[in-house]
Amino acid sequence: MNIGSTLYSKAMTAVAGNRAVKRLTLRYGRKLASRFVASDHLQGALREVAALNRLGISATLDALGEGIGSTDEALAYRDEYLKLLDAIADSGVRANVSLKPTQMGLAIDAGACFRNIRDIVARARQYGNFVRLDMENSPFTQATIDMTLRLYREGLTNAGTVLQAYLKRTEGDARDLMDAGVSLRLVKGAYREPAAIAFQHKAEIVASFKSIIQLHLDRGVYTAVASHDDAIVSWVKAYTSKNGIPKEKFEFQMLYGLRMSEQARLAKEGYRVRCYVPYGTMWYPYYTRRLAEKPGNLWLVAKNLLR
Ligand code: FDA
Repeated sequence: MNIGSTLYSKAMTAVAGNRAVKRLTLRYGRKLASRFVASDHLQGALREVAALNRLGISATLDALGEGIGSTDEALAYRDEYLKLLDAIADSGVRANVSLKPTQMGLAIDAGACFRNIRDIVARARQYGNFVRLDMENSPFTQATIDMTLRLYREGLTNAGTVLQAYLKRTEGDARDLMDAGVSLRLVKGAYREPAAIAFQHKAEIVASFKSIIQLHLDRGVYTAVASHDDAIVSWVKAYTSKNGIPKEKFEFQMLYGLRMSEQARLAKEGYRVRCYVPYGTMWYPYYTRRLAEKPGNLWLVAKNLLR
């Protein structure tokens, strides 16, 4: 991250937290968010996934929601995910699911959160499907890793989590989780974290990212690289080709609405590509993280508003 983009990202995160901005954004509603959110509802999202599948792109579906306020709300999200897994099986689309631990109640009742997630992973297993526990901000890192390991201990190995390259602890976590056979998505990291625990500069984050990707590829475990960064994508292509790592051993993941033509191009070149497809009405926090990541995304949204 250079100083300009760090300042931009901090400013955006601060602006996103502002109540007036939030009210204004919510007033313009789905139109603003439609750049990054596939649909308000499950059936619409499934139609988008079917279209992606026709381009050779798989998906991971995310029923938007996070930081909920009650265990009843968490139960409603659990039910939405059970419905989602049934609908994926019924429709035959190529998609797994991603969920947020705080959406399942991690911040209010860790035991109930684990039970909700376990129900979802167990349902996915009936269909031979997979559940990714997204990684949120650092107060939840250890608990998310612990829940994933517990699922594995209970025989539910059709789950996995995410490691964020910006966290200084990540290389150690990567080794431990690989030893336990846990499936991981590797990302740079999307939240603001303090310098005591997280790299702040782009060069350090990229170096850490490459190092954990390489660790995975060298071990021969399936590697999911989630990034829109051309430098990372090209590096992975060159590294795997130079080391004779087959395309079946790794996948690229990108977000819905970002670099869609690049996603299609990679799929056409024979790479595995998975698109993260969010749907639902609780889009505000997801959407503001996307704006904070890249100044250009503000223009994409503005164009959408004027359309
Ligand atoms: P970054 O934003 O660093 O941009 C680097 C460069 O990429 C840009 O300078 C530009 O060259 C190029 N680029 C990026 N976007 C482009 C565009 N639209 N058009 C053209 N060029 C572009 N985070 C987290 O903390 N927990 C999680 O669970 C997840 N999950 C997740 C899933 C998936 C599928 C993805 C893709 C990402 C996440 N993330 C995440 C988010 C992640 O941590 C990170 O914040 C974003 O991916 C942004 O970092 P990038 O590496 O994509 O590029």
